Amino acid sequence: MHTNLCMPSKKRSSSPQFAETKHDEIGFWSEIKLDILKAYWPEYTKILKKQSWDFRKLYVDAFAGSGLHVSRTKGEFVKGSPARALDVMPPFDEYHFVDLDEAKVQSLEKLAAAKPSVHVHHGDCNEILVNKIFPLALYEEYRRALCLLDPYSLQLDWKVTAQAGEMRSIEVFLNFPIMDINRNVLRAEATKSKIRDMDRFWATKHGEMPHIGRNRSYSASPNNRRSQTGSSSRHFNEG
Ligand SMILES: C[S@@+](CC[C@H](N)C(=O)[O-])C[C@H]1O[C@@H](n2cnc3c(N)ncnc32)[C@H](O)[C@@H]1O
Repeated sequence: MHTNLCMPSKKRSSSPQFAETKHDEIGFWSEIKLDILKAYWPEYTKILKKQSWDFRKLYVDAFAGSGLHVSRTKGEFVKGSPARALDVMPPFDEYHFVDLDEAKVQSLEKLAAAKPSVHVHHGDCNEILVNKIFPLALYEEYRRALCLLDPYSLQLDWKVTAQAGEMRSIEVFLNFPIMDINRNVLRAEATKSKIRDMDRFWATKHGEMPHIGRNRSYSASPNNRRSQTGSSSRHFNEG
């Protein structure tokens, strides 16, 4: 798991290859993330290729982006995760890129042009992964998938994490949205929608804190917070 490294988009003029497309502007931390992924992926495909079974190797990029970013430090275009995955040697056998944003999907389609192994999906990856893509990675059929989950914030549904774990054939790289959790839930007033997002992310109910091992919960209500924590600077309740 990695901390959340990619920030929402700022628009820039586009490269000739991706004319008319908006791309995210990314900080150096996102470039580090991309370098880590680029170093890891070929090791994954090399190891699978060495096995005696002929595994079919799938690359799944669930929050794919446009395929290209603008580096905030250098002011240059840099390849995003889907474009980098296409450069991996030995290659994956199948690629699945998913994004909710129509303009980004159009850009991904340009990247996929004339590459029959690349499939671009437009929509909510939480539904598309569970219903369409993960069923293509059946353990019994010698299919294995490397799945990148790189949301901006708490957009991931626990059902995806749970299904990936149950399938035994899927390795997940989750870019953990710690910044959003800290800033918008734990250190700030947790709005109802953020509580709902947290519940969806962790499969918790009504703000119950996950994996802390004690009876803690965060709350949207300052009164509730004060009465249960005795501290206005804490934004979760400790039992
Ligand atoms: C952090 S960026 C992805 C960056 C990309 N992985 C990279 O490193 O080049 C997150 C992307 O997720 C997309 N997104 C947000 N919610 C989504 C959802 N529910 N399903 C699919 N894509 C989503 C956004 O449009 C955005 O392009």
